[in-house]
Amino acid sequence: MTRLTKRQFLRLVGSAAGVAATYHTMNTLGLLGPESAQAATPDLPDGSGYGRRVVILGAGISGMTAAYELSKAGYHCTILEATGRAGGRNLTARAGDVIHEVDSRQWVDFDHEDHLYANLGPARIPYHHRIILGYCKEFGVELEMFTNDNRGAFFHNAERFDGQPVVGRRVMTDQRGYIAELLAKAINRNALDDDLTADDKERLLPMLVEFGGLDADYLYAGSNRGGYQGESVHAGLAPGDVNDPLDFSELLRSEFWEYKLHFSQFLNQNPTLFQPVGGMDAIAKAFETRVRRIIRYNSPVEEIRKTADGARVVHRNQRSGVSEALDADFVICTIPAPVLKDIPNDFSPETQAAIESVAFVPAVKIGFQARRRFWEDDHAIYGGISWTDQDITQIWYPANGYHREKGVVMGAYIWDDFPGQGERWANMSLPERLRTAIAEGEHLHPGYADEIESGVSRAWLKAPYQLGAWPESYQPPAEILAPDGAVYFAGDQITALPGWQEGAALAAHTVVNSIHARVMAG
Ligand code: ALA
Repeated sequence: MTRLTKRQFLRLVGSAAGVAATYHTMNTLGLLGPESAQAATPDLPDGSGYGRRVVILGAGISGMTAAYELSKAGYHCTILEATGRAGGRNLTARAGDVIHEVDSRQWVDFDHEDHLYANLGPARIPYHHRIILGYCKEFGVELEMFTNDNRGAFFHNAERFDGQPVVGRRVMTDQRGYIAELLAKAINRNALDDDLTADDKERLLPMLVEFGGLDADYLYAGSNRGGYQGESVHAGLAPGDVNDPLDFSELLRSEFWEYKLHFSQFLNQNPTLFQPVGGMDAIAKAFETRVRRIIRYNSPVEEIRKTADGARVVHRNQRSGVSEALDADFVICTIPAPVLKDIPNDFSPETQAAIESVAFVPAVKIGFQARRRFWEDDHAIYGGISWTDQDITQIWYPANGYHREKGVVMGAYIWDDFPGQGERWANMSLPERLRTAIAEGEHLHPGYADEIESGVSRAWLKAPYQLGAWPESYQPPAEILAPDGAVYFAGDQITALPGWQEGAALAAHTVVNSIHARVMAG
């Protein structure tokens, strides 16, 4: 059985082929200038937007980025936000917050401490996401390191290694060792003579010794890179004995290699990664501070219509219960496709079909407050991820608050590896989600249940006005890359960076530049 779903496949190719394909599509549509000038940070002349009305649908990162940039140039912007808060999928849960889903409400029962929060939406920013990092710099959002890769965290497969978690340093070291040994054998048996010159062979063999930690006979017999036997991991006062290598067949069957073992090799998961100090919503709040006066909260969109010289957006004022219409020269629509597809509109049939084709991943996150930082105390795990083949998929350890009394772990981050998985968790009752995640976590951390004080879950499939976590595909349909009349589409859903705030901001920049070019062209 191959477990590489279509979505995973796209995730894997997305950093190269998907991006290229998307750019090709955008180029074909004339959406990109030379070297994606269209996506450049907007630097619109002061006052260039005077007299132009823009209605922006959604006060998430994309909508607020567009509003911020257009307002600076004098455009008259209004943001219609369906909910009572700004940020969209950028959502941090803290003590006292209420987390709404379409059929439930949860009160977050964490302690009131700065380090006790759960980033239920975006939670990491890679170093090369220059747009979002640029706004962090501009707005003074303080950053700290986020850790993906931790050799002290675990790999777990319920059916392999007696169902016991295996520490990452051993898995990584042994995988390299075995591969190096096999390659050295092939070279020494002259099996690769067609591919290697004598000089290559001479250089490759010592390289493999270093790469895999092989002995003088080019064999892998374990390495101190994987740590020493016993409690203390390192050798201590005496040289000590290194761990025996893990069984190779069992390693292969564990499927840790499927994507988890090289997760931090993915372009968007490479170190260095960052998180804002105190929660990811520091970014949303920094934007909101700058555009708050133009946001109409609690104003879900009911209709998007074309007019003779622009567009009209009908929205419900939830305080008065009355529907109101706003006319605009341009509309920027960041509403996620799963929601947008059901809003009455005048889009062309092609646009509507494209919107309907954009499927979102039903990801689920669960944050647990632990009474004790047992991962640090008992295992010397400081940040990073333990991986498991159970539904919870991963446990994240906090990259903040080290050595404090309590901490919040991400006790599940399910990204729908198997058909129906995300939906199944979305359809569990709130207590059942927490119970199931605790029971699965118990296999990685015996005694887990006793350490957990409270939890909060977010099934993005059931997030009001989102109905999903991020687009499955790295290749948005061409029809939503172009405006339909005066309506421009934005959000990460029009980029090859789905599920990243960088994508949201990139989309905003692209649309802002397109509108500016259209206005300048008269
Ligand atoms: N960008 C999201 C993550 O890193 C999907 O998990």
